[in-house]
Amino acid sequence: MGIKKNILVIPGDGIGPEVTTWGKAILEQIAADFGHDFTFDEALMGHAAIEATGNPLPDETLEKAKKSDAILFGAVGHAMYDNDPSLKIRPEQGLLKIRKELGLYANLRPILLFDELLNASSIKPSILKGTDILFFRELTGDVYFGEKVRSEDRNTASDLMIYHRYEVERIAHKAFEAAMQRGKKLCSVDKANVLESSRLWRETVQAIAKEYPEVTTEHMFIDNAAMQLIKDPKRFDVVLTANLFGDILTDEASQIAGSMGMLASASIGDGTGFFEPIHGSAHDITGKDLANPLASILSVALMLEIGFGLKEEAKVIITAVDKALKEGFRTNDIADETTNPYKVLGTKEMGKLLLKYIAQTTYTN
Ligand code: IPM
Ligand code: MG
Repeated sequence: MGIKKNILVIPGDGIGPEVTTWGKAILEQIAADFGHDFTFDEALMGHAAIEATGNPLPDETLEKAKKSDAILFGAVGHAMYDNDPSLKIRPEQGLLKIRKELGLYANLRPILLFDELLNASSIKPSILKGTDILFFRELTGDVYFGEKVRSEDRNTASDLMIYHRYEVERIAHKAFEAAMQRGKKLCSVDKANVLESSRLWRETVQAIAKEYPEVTTEHMFIDNAAMQLIKDPKRFDVVLTANLFGDILTDEASQIAGSMGMLASASIGDGTGFFEPIHGSAHDITGKDLANPLASILSVALMLEIGFGLKEEAKVIITAVDKALKEGFRTNDIADETTNPYKVLGTKEMGKLLLKYIAQTTYTN
């Protein structure tokens, strides 16, 4: 039985539109193959929205977002803001506001390692092989949303690192539930040796751990976790952490998968789910047909599985990505000296190849 869903596409800035086009095309292909009825709408966010309306998250975008069943997002950001901290209106504000407004408190970032890409990482294949980590990054608290202050003389500034117990509890439950479905191991990362907010975090996670006796829980300081992640990534199963630590740790973890261009994420919470690649707007390669569309395509797989409960459809996408890699096809970011130069594809060619493979997988199953 086909399902009916209304999907909002927010391409955003930089390579966002280039990669999101392919995420959307894959959704259309899946809908056609499996008899689903997906309807699409589009909205502005980030620099694109500032240019058009003066606001990084226009009201119209927020209204459309609240009404949709899922959101496929590209990236926000523009080079002009990076070296000018004095600019008051910034593209990233749109992303932070939509996370808060939609109550997207849990950001899931799976480190999915394709065997073919073991050599694309700067870490030794023997260390990487078999790694399978699922990050739960808290997304609507921490220094990201605490009070920001700048003194009158402009010489002093602070960002408040703040957590409420309920914020830790709700994401901890989600992470423990996921651990129960996976390897039954959970590592909670904090800085409880220094930070009061981390002591609240640890105490709360310890209490919730008692409700999941089958899960082996450990607590690790962020500095140690950053080191363990590249020393022995296989030791991790589910990693639960706060907003800022999760932001940093997942960029580091992306190198395990070979490239940021491969990592997808799902933000979930009270309502509509939000699905996006973890890479940013990448102005340096914008418009050059060099961006890797696989993170957007894998974000669509997360939308289907986590957002709509369509496991089979998600699997078809992952199988198609696996096939493209097994056949030796690469985008620039995941190519290495062993790659056949004729198999290094641009964004569009990689997108088209995936569409073809998805159609094939569906009809041969
Ligand atoms: C991410 C990004 C964002 C974040 C930026 C663009 C605000 O780095 O989603 O990881 O820090 O959360
Ligand atoms: Mg980040």
